[in-house]
Amino acid sequence: MNKDKVYIFDTTLRDGEQVPGCKLNTEQKLVIASRLDELGVDVIEAGFPISSPGDFKSVEEISKVVKNATVCGLTRSVKKDIEVAAEALKYAKRPRIHTGIGTSDSHITHKFRATREEIIERAIAAVKLARSFVEDVEFYAEDAGRTDNEFLAKVCEEVIKAGATVLNIPDTTGYCLPEEYGAKMKYLRENVTGIDKAILSCHCHNDLGLATANSISGVINGARQIECTINGIGERAGNTSLEEVVMILRQHPYLNLDTSINAKLLYDTSRMVSESMGMPVQPNKAIVGSNAFAHSSGIHQDGVIKNRETYEIIDPKDVGVSESAIVLTARSGRAALAYRAKNVGYELTKLQLDEVYQEFLKFADRKKEVVDADIHQIVKNTKVYKEIIA
Ligand code: KIV
Ligand code: ZN
Repeated sequence: MNKDKVYIFDTTLRDGEQVPGCKLNTEQKLVIASRLDELGVDVIEAGFPISSPGDFKSVEEISKVVKNATVCGLTRSVKKDIEVAAEALKYAKRPRIHTGIGTSDSHITHKFRATREEIIERAIAAVKLARSFVEDVEFYAEDAGRTDNEFLAKVCEEVIKAGATVLNIPDTTGYCLPEEYGAKMKYLRENVTGIDKAILSCHCHNDLGLATANSISGVINGARQIECTINGIGERAGNTSLEEVVMILRQHPYLNLDTSINAKLLYDTSRMVSESMGMPVQPNKAIVGSNAFAHSSGIHQDGVIKNRETYEIIDPKDVGVSESAIVLTARSGRAALAYRAKNVGYELTKLQLDEVYQEFLKFADRKKEVVDADIHQIVKNTKVYKEIIA
């Protein structure tokens, strides 16, 4: 059975770059954009052209080099923003303008000091203006996560009529629970006239650690685009992590959803973004963290050495990691020590292993991790050294 495609909208260069201290110059953005194109993302949100001359330049240059992906520029529902974005995108093979406005009562009252009717009017005008420049217009209902569903449906209906091709439903503050976010998508699918003319998009922030879960719940309930960033970087606690949603859909085939991402480039792309932004990846980060395929406790190591699948649900090679790691610590067992000792040239008998293991434990209690060079030292310190090297 053919799987339904979930479009991957990468916003590493826009929402991701909003992280304090992670600003990129145009050169760096171009390198990342080319890699994202190679990775197979469907849309690259290249920046917010009105925000600065530098960002305008980046969007313009990225538009020139990207071969396959749609290149997108962010705007507010403001005439000048939209005109400037259209100008920045003029070289793109597939340009998209991403315009929108806050729709929650909190945004309407405090940010815009407006009424719901005025917000709808501004949204319609922005989409119509954007459509006069490009065919592909995405509308975001900022703070949709906290927007009343009935009003949100009304906004969606009106912007579809005005020409929006994609409807972004951002959980801007990372507030929603997965069930709630999924129910929102389902409500929109069932209550917005003309919804079949547009793609619903998930844009989830990670303030409660639920960005990935919410995006997955969104696509299970009918959304067909996920907005995400490499390593989950982004404002505050970040955005949905690209590598996580891609691998979740791949590891759960019964969902019948997939993306066009070449997962073998995930690890390398993660390192590339981390290095150019100076933003380290936490070691326990799912899919791309340095410990994502490392095993250090004796029970797990014994299982993995016998059969990798006992403790791994992803083959590390599938995401571009060469192999699983058996890390030696004071919690490691004989199986792991024998395995690592063999890798550095010592084929130990059971009796020799018993002896080396006692020496290993003394050493490991003093050191966080035992590395290959330490194994030579440990073996040398045992009474059976001569017998082992004979
Ligand atoms: O989080 C958000 O609501 C956004 C919009 C500008 C799309 O980033
Ligand atoms: Zn956002």
